Amino acid sequence: MAVRLVIFGRQGAGKGTQSSLLSTHYGAPHISTGDMLRAAVANATPIGLEAKSFMDSGQLVPDEVMLGVVEERLAERDVLESGFLLDGFPRTVVQAEALGHFATIDVAVDLQVPEDVVLERISSRRVCKNCGRIYSTEAPPAEGWTCDTCGGDVVQRGDDTPEAVAKRLTAYATETQPTIDWYAGTGVLVAVDGLGTLEEVTARLIAAIDARLAG
Ligand code: AP5
Ligand code: MG
Repeated sequence: MAVRLVIFGRQGAGKGTQSSLLSTHYGAPHISTGDMLRAAVANATPIGLEAKSFMDSGQLVPDEVMLGVVEERLAERDVLESGFLLDGFPRTVVQAEALGHFATIDVAVDLQVPEDVVLERISSRRVCKNCGRIYSTEAPPAEGWTCDTCGGDVVQRGDDTPEAVAKRLTAYATETQPTIDWYAGTGVLVAVDGLGTLEEVTARLIAAIDARLAG
């Protein structure tokens, strides 16, 4: 069965980490708008050039840019066949309402992690510049800072500076929390505790998603 999931959680909550694992479990593509934008910036595409200054400073990229990117991606064959796991979209009520016009959402997950914990996780996060695989100083690659998957350089993200992180968390509270509330109103929202080991959080997510899917 194709599942159509959206995952919320403040910056550093573990959306990207858990989405990779859930994507394997449910056989649905992991679509991270942050990863898509970072690839566009690296390739200097028109969207990347437009998005870069917003991302570097920790601001949201304008809704009209994001809607074009996501609508195009959700029309691809793998999504039509297997569903999707959206990570980082929608982040505003405008995006959620627009998404409702071109996709049905089975479950929206709110992965809850307190602010003091996400700040620690962000400061120890490292990511592969090439494929985006997520590491941390506690769980680094096997050999130096070289990605286990693709051999790329593993570095700190450009927007993981204290100034940009503070802005991102403010945008989460003012723009994305109302979006989560909007999904609560549609009856598809489940809240999941994001504290604990990766395995504990994955098991909790799968249990909550399966319960919601079963109705
Ligand atoms: P995006 O890339 O989505 O960044 P974000 O929302 O800031 O979220 P993060 O990626 O920082 O956190 P995460 O929850 O994925 O955490 P992770 O799994 O890495 O967006 C970047 C920018 O793009 C935005 O600021 C905006 O400018 C733009 N953008 C994107 N989408 C947009 C949209 N829809 N509209 C407008 N603009 C948009 O985990 C963090 C760390 O914690 C890692 O080191 C990991 O190893 C570690 N960790 C994870 N789980 C655990 C655990 N259980 N225990 C211990 N450590 C853990
Ligand atoms: Mg992420």
